[in-house]
Amino acid sequence: MSRRATISGVGGELPGEPVGNAHFASYLDTDDAWIVSRTGIEARHRAPADMSLVDLALPAAERALASAKVKAAELDLIIMATTTPDQFMPATACLLQARLDGAAGCPAFDVQAVCSGFVYALQLADAAVRAGQAERVLVVGADMYSRILDYQDRGTCILFGDGAGAAVVTATETEGTGIAAVDLHADGRLAAIIETPGRVSGQRLEGTGAFAMDGPQVYKVAIEKMAESARAVCDQAAVAPADLAWLVAHQANLRIIDRVAKDLGLADERVVRTVARHANTSAASIPLALASVWDRIVPGDWVLFTAAGGGFTWGSVLWRA
Ligand code: COA
Repeated sequence: MSRRATISGVGGELPGEPVGNAHFASYLDTDDAWIVSRTGIEARHRAPADMSLVDLALPAAERALASAKVKAAELDLIIMATTTPDQFMPATACLLQARLDGAAGCPAFDVQAVCSGFVYALQLADAAVRAGQAERVLVVGADMYSRILDYQDRGTCILFGDGAGAAVVTATETEGTGIAAVDLHADGRLAAIIETPGRVSGQRLEGTGAFAMDGPQVYKVAIEKMAESARAVCDQAAVAPADLAWLVAHQANLRIIDRVAKDLGLADERVVRTVARHANTSAASIPLALASVWDRIVPGDWVLFTAAGGGFTWGSVLWRA
């Protein structure tokens, strides 16, 4: 049996009190029934103004380390997936490392693949472990879209929430377990369907940076690419979709998750759904969803992670517990 990477622990964090759909109906031309029927979202969390992304990510990382029984000092690598870093530089992973007692010294860097960020980061952790370059990797997905949303745009502001999730990836020699297949893609020709149009140009930052999206186009491409990629990892590992124990899809929209699940022919109880209570938390959504069922995953379960997002990026990871 060759060396593989497995997931040994997870943790999550949502800031403050939930903000219900009624809040948006109080000042925008929208209502709870529209939001729930089109997205499945009932609430989201919003970080207070004085909270940094590292403040939000730290408890998620500490919970994942405790759940994996790994000390920060034992980490060989820290990878942070985020689109909303505290600063352009240094990487948020380095700022997080400074808050994790004993973690100084190991490499730490950020990955920017928007809502696919956690799946991209998991691929890097898997590769580092299989190559023998790391034994214990902290993979964090954290985002604060409240910092980039236009709260007057009813088509986007209702869809996102702030959150952080983390997983500890470790080496295993146990036969038949670990990450079995990975499938990642990007198509930069679709960059404009999700973007923050403001740009760094010349010597100053231009534009607002507020989030913009072609919702119907994203909806269509996300379903097509997530289903295609989910099938690709199943094919790679010769696992029938019907044998999946859990589908942990990016939590953007209940209708997208249900369409992907239907395409794979999965029974309802195998599909993890957390989007109702925290909306789309971008890079945090997969580890948050995983944390919600962590105690119910048993050895031998096939768990499929699939995501799509800005870039346009998409991909999947197939893991056996
Ligand atoms: N409340 C009420 N009406 C709204 C609304 C809101 N919050 N947001 C948009 N509308 C309106 C639109 O203005 C439009 O009105 P019009 O027909 O008068 O022009 C109407 O609803 C339909 O808009 P449309 O964008 O076609 O709706 P939709 O059924 O495609 O749903 C989304 C919109 C955003 C929910 C849907 O496209 C979606 O979920 N896309 C994917 C978004 C996503 O998950 N992105 C992240 C992926 S990583």
